[in-house]
Order: sequence, then C-alpha cells, then structure tokens
Amino acid sequence: MDKKKILIIKGSARKDGFTNRLCNETENFSAEHEINVFDTYKEEFLPCNGCNYCEKNGKCAKRDLDGFFEKFENADLIIFASPVYNGTFSAPMKSLLDRFQVYYTSFYANGKIQKIKKRRKAIFIAAAGREGKVSFEYMKSQLKCAFSILNIELVNSVLCAYTDTQSTYIETLEELKRSLKDE
Ligand SMILES: Cc1cc2nc3c(=O)[nH]c(=O)nc-3n(C[C@H](O)[C@H](O)[C@H](O)COP(=O)(O)O)c2cc1C
Repeated sequence: MDKKKILIIKGSARKDGFTNRLCNETENFSAEHEINVFDTYKEEFLPCNGCNYCEKNGKCAKRDLDGFFEKFENADLIIFASPVYNGTFSAPMKSLLDRFQVYYTSFYANGKIQKIKKRRKAIFIAAAGREGKVSFEYMKSQLKCAFSILNIELVNSVLCAYTDTQSTYIETLEELKRSLKDE
C-alpha cells in the first residue's frame, strides 16, 4: 500500500470533544500513513487582515504559516474538522480559511490558474450540538468554493449531530472509517 501524507486540521479546543475524538480515530485508523496534525487552537497564527500584500507579491506578508502551507500543499489527503459554532466554523478554523487568501489572490491574478499544482483530496468532519444540517450544508458549500481554488476534491463530509443530547457519534465514526478506507 502507498504511504499517504495525511494532514489533519483540528478546529476544536475540547480535547475529548466529538471533533477531536473523530480526529484521533482518523489518526489511529491511518497509522500506517504519514500523519501531520495542525491544531488551530494550539498553533499561533495571525488572522488575515486584508493587507493585499499577497496580491502584489504572490506570497503572504506573514511568515507564521509557512510550515503549514508546505504541508498543506504536499498532502495527499486533508481532514478539515470543526465544530459548528454559531452556524459555521469555529473562529480559529475560520481564521485559517481566511489565510488561504494568498491562494485566492494568485488564482485571480494569474488568469484563474490554481497556485497549488498538486490535486489533493479532503474529508470534512463537523460536530453540532443540535441537528446541524443547515449549518453543515452551508459549511460544505463554503469549503467547496474554497477548494475549487485550492485544487482540492471534497470526497466526503461527515456530521456528528445532536452532541448536546444523544449524539450520532457511532454512526459518524463508521461513515468516517468507510470513507478513509476508500481513500
Ligand atoms: C460558541 C458555541 C457556539 C455553538 N453554536 C452551535 C450552533 O450554531 N449549532 C449547533 O448545533 N451547535 C452549536 N454549538 C454546540 C457545538 O456544536 C457542540 O457542542 C459540538 O459538539 C462542539 O464540538 P466538539 O464536541 O468537537 O467540541 C455551539 C457551541 C459553542 C461553544
């Protein structure tokens, strides 16, 4: 079996929360692959402030995500994992998505050519206290829009719903494992 580079981007601060439990299961399930984890609550990075430096210079003025971007560009499979907070991504995850602006400006400045040449795959994991369906669809559509510029194919999305009451954790984990197996 080919050893894949898997990048897990964590968007929850709760160590034993549903999102992180699903991320940990992903790590265990994919142990034979090369795994990198980027925890948006632990890593220190600045939010995009729309300075437009990237538009003129083709790179971000901030250097704090250079290491991350390298892993992001070279991964085979990327896991985006976020709780639903106020109908969308947790704040640090949203902040990371904004930092992809460097890729968006390059795309439009270069006749809609993707800056990242390697086509990667992604799986989206979300956890919601309630049904979360509308938020989940909205988050998926946000990701799909970004992924078209980031050269990523969203191969599957799983939602762990009703975490405030009787969560769908077991079913979500099964679905996640099935989709990891397919990749
Ligand atoms: C600030 C905040 C906002 C939230 N907003 C929503 C929401 O809009 N919809 C929802 O279904 N659950 C909402 N929740 C509940 C979380 O989605 C739920 O607790 C989820 O399990 C958190 O993910 P985690 O277990 O991985 O930490 C919110 C929780 C917090 C702390």
